[in-house]
Amino acid sequence: MKGIICAGGRGTRLNPLTKVVNKHLLPIYDKPMVYYPLETLLSMGIKEVTVVTSSHQMDQFKELLGDGSDFDCKINYATQDESLGIANAIYQAKPFCQGEKVAVILGDNIYMEDIASRVEGFERGCELFLKEVHDPERFGVPTLDGDIIIDIIEKPSVPASNYAVTGLYIYDENVFDYIDRLKPSARGEYEVTDLSNIYLKESKVKANFLEDAWLDAGTFESLYKANQLVRSRIIGLDRQHNNVNKSEVVSKNRVRVN
Ligand code: DAU
Repeated sequence: MKGIICAGGRGTRLNPLTKVVNKHLLPIYDKPMVYYPLETLLSMGIKEVTVVTSSHQMDQFKELLGDGSDFDCKINYATQDESLGIANAIYQAKPFCQGEKVAVILGDNIYMEDIASRVEGFERGCELFLKEVHDPERFGVPTLDGDIIIDIIEKPSVPASNYAVTGLYIYDENVFDYIDRLKPSARGEYEVTDLSNIYLKESKVKANFLEDAWLDAGTFESLYKANQLVRSRIIGLDRQHNNVNKSEVVSKNRVRVN
């Protein structure tokens, strides 16, 4: 399985923080935001990741992440110069991922959960990760029948459930053919929700319900909360490792904060 990090878009909700700095390079406590989705993919055993971002900010990503050898993986880069939506960003990674299963993660999504055990043995269709939230209207929202997803609506004014479809999507080899079938939404984007809905129509979606913390750090409030969350997990780790030198615990190589 190959990984894709969607790190394009305009980040307008974080202006002026994002006027000159790409959203995914902003700090979340002690690391740039993009490290967290990268670490989530690596924790799943993925060894090759494509980062999709705009060409004018690409060099900063290359300087930060390089060829991936610092992370024990291979990193490819693909450009998306117009913010035509998440499904369009995924499509830009096609040259590196065609014919492969892919794990797509949004560059502003931070997971504290052990995802690896959830996707072991994935073969066909699509796996989504749902989280109960107090503000579902900000997200893709599933209509549920028990544990089964019936439909997903992007940012509904009247949400059918209190769940968000979070920004991690496991798709089988059909993903690029399905994106080819998409039409732009009313806001002019190729929506990841429409992509997942194609898999839904074919009854090929498995829903996973997240138990541990998850955040999308795309607004001032959620960016602030993400910093608090990561900091509190690090301090928790520090307490557990009371006798360990602090600089060892808060080291570059601390991969996930579970
Ligand atoms: O965070 C989860 C939510 O992410 C899902 O529940 C929604 O279904 C999904 O549409 C998305 O909603 P957002 O409003 O948060 O999407 P946003 O436009 O903020 O984009 C999320 C990330 O995707 C962003 O960090 C960069 C990347 N992106 C976005 C667009 C529009 C791209 O790489 N290219 C794009 O064209």
